[in-house]
Amino acid sequence: MTDLDIRVLDDAHYRAAHTLFRGALHHPPAPDDRWEIARTSYDPGRAFGAFAGDELVGTVQSFPSRLAVPGGAVVPMAAVSRVGVRADWTRRGVLTALQRAQLRAMRESGDVAASLRASEGAIYERFGYGVATRVREVRVKRATARSRQPIAGRVRLVEPAAAGDLVGSLFERVSPGRAGTIARWQGWWNLNVLHEEGAHQRYAIASGPDGDDGYVVYKVTAYSYENGVEKPAVLTVLDLWAATPRAWADLWVFLLGIDLVDEVGAEGRPVDEPLEWLLVDRRALRVVDVMDETWLRLVDVEAALSARAYRPGGSVVIGVRDRFLPENEGSYLITSSGASRTTGEPDFVVDVDVLGAAYLGDVAFGALAAAGRFAAGSPEAVARADALFAVDQAPWCGTFF
Ligand SMILES: CC(C)(COP(=O)(O)OP(=O)(O)OC[C@H]1O[C@@H](n2cnc3c(N)ncnc32)[C@H](O)[C@@H]1OP(=O)(O)O)[C@@H](O)C(=O)NCCC(=O)NCCS
Repeated sequence: MTDLDIRVLDDAHYRAAHTLFRGALHHPPAPDDRWEIARTSYDPGRAFGAFAGDELVGTVQSFPSRLAVPGGAVVPMAAVSRVGVRADWTRRGVLTALQRAQLRAMRESGDVAASLRASEGAIYERFGYGVATRVREVRVKRATARSRQPIAGRVRLVEPAAAGDLVGSLFERVSPGRAGTIARWQGWWNLNVLHEEGAHQRYAIASGPDGDDGYVVYKVTAYSYENGVEKPAVLTVLDLWAATPRAWADLWVFLLGIDLVDEVGAEGRPVDEPLEWLLVDRRALRVVDVMDETWLRLVDVEAALSARAYRPGGSVVIGVRDRFLPENEGSYLITSSGASRTTGEPDFVVDVDVLGAAYLGDVAFGALAAAGRFAAGSPEAVARADALFAVDQAPWCGTFF
């Protein structure tokens, strides 16, 4: 590897780092007004640059967040983003050096976990990240999508100017919800809701006997007809959160009832969202994709394992390997009453990315063993681990970053 200097970036370099990252994704630099919004999402100490001499050739960043884990506890988490290496510097170890520095800094600052969304599936496993949540994309044909029930409470539209505060405080109330959900940071709201594109979005609030209890942010691309080509009207759900099943159903029934819409589409929804069960004809809904959502990296394995709850299931000792944070290596005893380090012999040993994948309960150790991701040893021990790690709801993040 060429000599690289990895530095914590400050305000003087944020814009160059942002431009480098956008360039790596083949996007042009952000115009000034957009940059002023993006700048608010750079936190001191959380952006790193790789320098070859004085030249910035790669960057990574993270946002300060929190992760809900099975059982309802919440742990400090770094939401890793804006990862990019200049095209003339790739495959020379720049990302590896940045990852090494970032993981060390996260560990030292007390982040228990790190999470990211990957542009490609082959990048992050080597750094200890495993796919921990998945999402589905659905499309609903409005012509045949009759809901089984009417709106039970009330759904009202609110003006974009008033929406930011309303949806922000509602999100705070409904989250942390299921395992995998994360806290949003101010820069997230600035970039995703409180900006000029936010003004073209529609905001609807659900309420019931106890007041407001859910919201949806959506946009509609209207029907068009040009040169004999028809384009259907598509409503896209951007963000939908509900504190109760009633609020959730009301929001969907509202969306499916909006006139002059041919299709309702939603990406990034939980894989177990029961939308098809709300429809008289479930075939009005098509699942068009199921894909990885967030990749989870346990930065402090002991703290992470201790934070989550376990089901009854006897006990198991899991050995952990971690090339980047060797202090995580060792054996962990998991029982229904908690987890702790042990000097006992492990029932099986996994790389830290495998543990990250299984941690929130989205995939069973049994499935990972069957796929050859670790040597199972005794199938009974793996079955015990799966009983302990089992969850009721599929974990889901629901926040794009
Ligand atoms: C992805 C990216 C950051 C990798 O940076 P890099 O400096 O080339 O990575 P490294 O040289 O440190 O590679 C480390 C290892 O990962 C592998 N690797 C890196 N990127 C990979 C990719 N996209 N696909 C497959 N393998 C990849 C390398 O081959 C290398 O493997 P080795 O250790 O067996 O030799 C860089 O290619 C990039 O900026 N891509 C475009 C933007 C992007 O996708 N960013 C990520 C957003 S989530």
